Amino acid sequence: MKIGIIGTGAIGGTIAKKLVDANHLVKVYSADGSDKLKKRALELGASPSTLTDIVKDVEVVILSIPTNVIPSLPKDLFAGVSQNVIVVDTSNYYPFRDGDIQELKDGKVESEWVAQQIGHPVIKAFNNLLAHTLQHGGKPEHAKERIAMAISGDDEKAKAKLSGLINDAGFDVVDAGPLAASWRHQPGTPAYCTELSTTELKNALDAGVKENAPAIRDSAIAQLMERTTQPTHEEIVLFNRALFPTNPKTVVTHGA
Ligand SMILES: NC(=O)c1ccc[n+]([C@@H]2O[C@H](COP(=O)([O-])OP(=O)(O)OC[C@H]3O[C@@H](n4cnc5c(N)ncnc54)[C@H](OP(=O)(O)O)[C@@H]3O)[C@@H](O)[C@H]2O)c1
Repeated sequence: MKIGIIGTGAIGGTIAKKLVDANHLVKVYSADGSDKLKKRALELGASPSTLTDIVKDVEVVILSIPTNVIPSLPKDLFAGVSQNVIVVDTSNYYPFRDGDIQELKDGKVESEWVAQQIGHPVIKAFNNLLAHTLQHGGKPEHAKERIAMAISGDDEKAKAKLSGLINDAGFDVVDAGPLAASWRHQPGTPAYCTELSTTELKNALDAGVKENAPAIRDSAIAQLMERTTQPTHEEIVLFNRALFPTNPKTVVTHGA
């Protein structure tokens, strides 16, 4: 499949590499200068692109940049792009990093806001696994204990096509429903970065409480930032699971 990826950081770069390795034709764009982008594209096995060209002659565009820079994308970037082109939003809103975005603070579903900003429907995916999980946690289809990724969106055909790419990247897929339900895998929910299997992820998506998520997100990030030593990836996943006593993978350590 022909794929354009905007953002070559921890998530965009990892997705690019995974999809190149699965024989997809990937082009990438990021904010940095052309020489740095050329070098990064070479590392990933992708081709460097301009922003104008990244949305042309592709079936899928993956938007993998921080939430706060999304409004600065050219307003007409997707103007001539067919509705058949699948646009994927990987973003997560963190006020400490992205600043105050009033609509999101008021509870607007993050990917619905992203779709409005870019003027094109989006599928939310690749947001509920940490970059480390994405890079190292993939397994072949039908492997035991395969980690599942949540996706949401309003176009069933697009979700089916995207699920094939996610499978190529090494993960099962759980459809969390329409884009309006994508808050179920935003930060501060039991489905967020907890490395669950398909059945566990379905239960975690059901267990989310929208109103509680922002406070849990902010408290979790504050606790992690207070630590004097950098937690390992495994510690972060255990920490995320422990935020929710009902999480099927939470290990309850009495007296801790
Ligand atoms: N890290 C994770 O574990 C994780 C997991 C799931 C989802 N996410 C979400 O995925 C998104 C990307 O995260 P990340 O961790 O990959 O971030 P990152 O490592 O900081 O990379 C961000 C990328 O966006 C590019 N960028 C920044 N401003 C841009 C602009 N105006 N136009 C085009 N490209 C621009 C950067 O380009 P330069 O290289 O030039 O700076 C960089 O390639 C975020 O919304 C994040 O919340 C992250």
